[in-house]
Amino acid sequence: MKVLGIETSCDETAVGIVEDGRFLLSSTVASSMDLHAKYGGVVPEIAARSHIESMIPVITDALSSAKCSWQDIDAITVTNGAGLSGSLLVGVMTASTLAICFNKPLYSVNHVVGHVYASFLTETNLTDYVMPVLSPKFPLLAIIVSGGHSQLAIFYNHIDYILLGQTRDDAIGEAFDKVAKILGLPYPGGPNIAKLAMQGNFETYRIPEAKLDSLYDFSFSGPKTAVLRLAQAEVGEDFNFPSFKLSERLSEPQKANIAASFQYCAIKTIVSKAFKAYKNYQPKSVVIAGGVAANLELRRQLLKLIPESDLIFPDIKLCTDNGAMIATRGYYQIQSKQLPIDPYLIDVSPNLKM
Ligand code: KG4
Ligand code: ZN
Repeated sequence: MKVLGIETSCDETAVGIVEDGRFLLSSTVASSMDLHAKYGGVVPEIAARSHIESMIPVITDALSSAKCSWQDIDAITVTNGAGLSGSLLVGVMTASTLAICFNKPLYSVNHVVGHVYASFLTETNLTDYVMPVLSPKFPLLAIIVSGGHSQLAIFYNHIDYILLGQTRDDAIGEAFDKVAKILGLPYPGGPNIAKLAMQGNFETYRIPEAKLDSLYDFSFSGPKTAVLRLAQAEVGEDFNFPSFKLSERLSEPQKANIAASFQYCAIKTIVSKAFKAYKNYQPKSVVIAGGVAANLELRRQLLKLIPESDLIFPDIKLCTDNGAMIATRGYYQIQSKQLPIDPYLIDVSPNLKM
């Protein structure tokens, strides 16, 4: 069964085609990131307009890379939430129109759940992909860490899952992006913090972790503010000093040490909670999803606590937003006997929960 997945929840216009829920036939992603970079974050209106421009070329490219025609596609799946409403609308309207025109069954997919399913992709003929050797097994612990999400969830099967914990404020990627701004690094900040951290010493500063009463929830707003106060103190100013002027006053070693100390603290927060869940739920697999999965410190800290044979890291191109994860999740919804959605009734759910 070949499933085509459409993802437009944020700034990526993405279409993927997957066979039998494990074989990646194609994954085409067009990002409008360059248009947002000068604003320091995604501008919803610009993202939505860019989806409209990119949608048809991305679909055409995904079909031709997969060497498929519409006749070969058995079902269409689309992200209906959570995400930016204007962006979601473009994907959902496109998917429903295609479902009507080509008479294909249509399924909606929760974006965050979709991220987990990137790890079910274990085979491909495409070059440039490093696929996991093992398929995930249930019960499965999912660590979802990106610019928009920080969640821990346990999946007992494709239908029954529970959200164990999530962020109370900023997502971890968002905190990386905001700290990067303080240090004068360009958006998206995560990869730039990670690079700079390599030249610093994580023991230079102690960034406090948020103490929460919940076992598995996170908070990244406190550590982010701690970085701001620390940077202000380092340049000899008080809390009134504007954050945008800090980077010109900090030395390169100070910036590198702040990057390393913040990264260590933020990643430790995720890893220590994930490890608690690992001990308490004894999953057979632990899958890592979302853009922050690219972070090497995350891999290093996880590997210190969890056996490598239990950890599944999808190829980094499949960790960030893509259509293939939506196609894969949709495939397992179909296998679980979920009924297709009426293309005339499908709607977006910007605040959809897991
Ligand atoms: O999954 P994604 O592409 O989009 C969302 O759904 O949010 O994740 C993007 C996020 C950004 O916040 C980016 O700064 C972060 O992932 N990121 C990283 C790294 N690479 C990307 N954060 C930390 N270390 C990295 N190496
Ligand atoms: Zn995402």
